[in-house]
Amino acid sequence: MKAQLILVIVAAVLTVPALHAQDVDFDTEVKPILKASCYKCHGAKRQRGKLRLDHWSDAFTKGDHALLVPGKPEKSELLRRATLEEDDPDFMPKDGEPLTKSQLATLQKWIAGGAKWPAGKAAGAESEARWRSQFAIPELTEPQKAAQAKAIAAVRKAGGLANRIAADTPAIDVNLSLIGKDVNDDTLAALSGLETSLVWLNLSRTKVSDGGLGRVATHTHLRRLHLARTGVGDAGLGHLQSLKGLRYLNLYGTSVGDAGLEHLQDLKELEKVFLWQTKVTDAGVKKLQAALPDCAIDVGKYAKPVVHAPKAMPKPINATCPITNKAVDGTCSVEHQGQLIAFCCGNCLASFKKEPGKWLPKIEEFKKK
Ligand code: HEC
Repeated sequence: MKAQLILVIVAAVLTVPALHAQDVDFDTEVKPILKASCYKCHGAKRQRGKLRLDHWSDAFTKGDHALLVPGKPEKSELLRRATLEEDDPDFMPKDGEPLTKSQLATLQKWIAGGAKWPAGKAAGAESEARWRSQFAIPELTEPQKAAQAKAIAAVRKAGGLANRIAADTPAIDVNLSLIGKDVNDDTLAALSGLETSLVWLNLSRTKVSDGGLGRVATHTHLRRLHLARTGVGDAGLGHLQSLKGLRYLNLYGTSVGDAGLEHLQDLKELEKVFLWQTKVTDAGVKKLQAALPDCAIDVGKYAKPVVHAPKAMPKPINATCPITNKAVDGTCSVEHQGQLIAFCCGNCLASFKKEPGKWLPKIEEFKKK
């Protein structure tokens, strides 16, 4: 059913002259579909799966994959999800009515025509250029091609994934996170040969440590690096300074702290850094943000709050409430003429604030004591 549906759509699009393929307008044709079926969960209010479909940057470059690949509907995760069988766990809209054939055809046509987003918000073409520039690496020489083939075989033999990202680029994506616990610093020897072509590397949940990053550092075309939940710490990040083209770095759940962030300051291409559940402080993040003003630094809601040393509290001048003569409660006090006066309760504090003059004789007494 899925394959048939896609065939129908592809056939429909192929019969549309190229000129018309670009005529789908986002605001009047595409947005109403997304609004009706998707924004409920992927809009301004809720972002299920951390996805917003009303933001072009998110829609184009979410996570590891391209949700929208301008000109390539068949590579676009968004359309794949919407064309699955309804009972597929990945099917979208989740728990909703499937998009109609004509809605799917509109999305298909829109993506095929370059997924143009409204003017001023970076059109699809610009975004595609940015997206594709990740894979813009020099052609490989024959010996480099041979080394690449050998490395791909070695990664696969170790149980990892190694793939060309697209047919028209030698750029490679390696994912070792799936066999996480079997991967350590030595496993990274398999990457040798990919120095001229590795652009995405996922080492999340592996046993890779600071030392291993020395091996990673020689892959200077890297754009995305996942190190979540690894043993990597501050010293390891020192190795990453050679990765000048790095755009995405995930350090979630590592022991990285402020000292580690210092090593990232010169990675001017960084667009996104994940620091959930790390040891960084507000001050460290602020410093990195100042060095990389355009980078989105995500510390998550689990970031440890910065604990300020408690200020030495001045002591009130009185032990009994000037109004009731009862013992004072430390939480109800007011500064009056440079001195802290305490009360037994909030009501008395309020009475005092209303008419301080009335109680001044009492205050004078306190001062004498
Ligand atoms: C009732 C809520 C709901 C609706 C409506 C919904 N989604 Fe989702 N969507 C989710 C949830 C939850 C996830 C995260 C879990 C998952 O990936 O399946 C998700 C994930 C996705 C992802 C994967 C994101 C990623 O990072 O890979 C895509 C693409 C997506 N939705 C597209 C759509 C589209 C297109 C529509 C409208 C046709 C839509 N969704 C409507 C709940 C919804």
